[in-house]
Amino acid sequence: MTVACAFGLAAALSVVVLGDESGYLTTEHQKMKLAAIESMWETEPAPASFTLFGIPDTKDRETHYAVHIPWVMGLIGTRSLDTPIEGINELVKSGKARIENGILAYEALGNIRQAMGTGTPDTADQATFEQYGNDLGYAYLLKRFVDDPSQATPAQIDQAANSLIPPVGTLFWSFRIMVGCGFLFIAVMATFFYLSTRRRLDSHRWLLHVAVWIIPLPWIAAEAGWIVAELGRQPWIIEGILPTALAVSSLGAGTLFLTITGFVALYTVLFIIEMGLMLAAIRKGPQPDNGPEMPVLGFRRVQGTMTPAE
Ligand code: HEM
Repeated sequence: MTVACAFGLAAALSVVVLGDESGYLTTEHQKMKLAAIESMWETEPAPASFTLFGIPDTKDRETHYAVHIPWVMGLIGTRSLDTPIEGINELVKSGKARIENGILAYEALGNIRQAMGTGTPDTADQATFEQYGNDLGYAYLLKRFVDDPSQATPAQIDQAANSLIPPVGTLFWSFRIMVGCGFLFIAVMATFFYLSTRRRLDSHRWLLHVAVWIIPLPWIAAEAGWIVAELGRQPWIIEGILPTALAVSSLGAGTLFLTITGFVALYTVLFIIEMGLMLAAIRKGPQPDNGPEMPVLGFRRVQGTMTPAE
């Protein structure tokens, strides 16, 4: 138990360190994901606080009953005291500007493509593309609302800018479930490690029940983490470059249904076989040790028990 808890404690601690690193990278590359995880609608003065609890309201764009811990988010997210973390509304605003720039790049690219067929592209188009090419992906966000992004109306540009907000409530709670589990694992492992090194686990039998009941939690935490990672980067499949809507597979619903049914059937059969084998082995129980009789310090093994050698 002591060895297991030592590993468990080290693993639980390292998850927090890795999680912190993921959070830091998210601040750098996926600002909207971080703001949504925090349900942070407005940019806060640095260092931003961490919202321990709150009820995100996506309609009115605010977080009700928010309980903040000062400085924590700024420190985790930026590792500094003076770098602000941008809020969702601010990011939508800058996203809208990038969509408008993206439209210019999209038009310029269209002209360049056309000119490539007939002669040399216009240098003005090339210069425009050089200047705004990095925002081309933002113009593709409009494809969900209009066939030709260069024909987008101001309302469609607003729609595309607002589509930059991922599902805030789901992200907010998934993140807290994951992190809550992470800190619970540290507490449980540290308690077990302490008690087992002092040989006092037997007097806390209820803790052994706790250990069994929390077996599903690492799985739940991993699923919650996966939801944070994948939902948080919507509407992008490659942040700022390729929207998910343009990257969906061309497979039909029927094919997907068939594949998933096949996987479920295969793994269900494997699960039943494995459970059957394990239960059979458990029912058989431990076997007496009938290994070779090796004299150890004047003792030898007779029918599983150590007997003084003659
Ligand atoms: C306790 C503190 C924790 C923190 C601060 C944390 C932080 C994070 C962050 C910021 C992400 C998003 C990364 C991204 O989108 O690129 C993430 C993803 C994830 N987390 Fe956690 N996490 C913690 C605990 C846990 C625990 C206990 C588990 C599971 C036992 C877990 C499993 C995951 C998984 C599976 C992902 C998805 C990774 C991926 O698909 O790229 N996390 N975590």
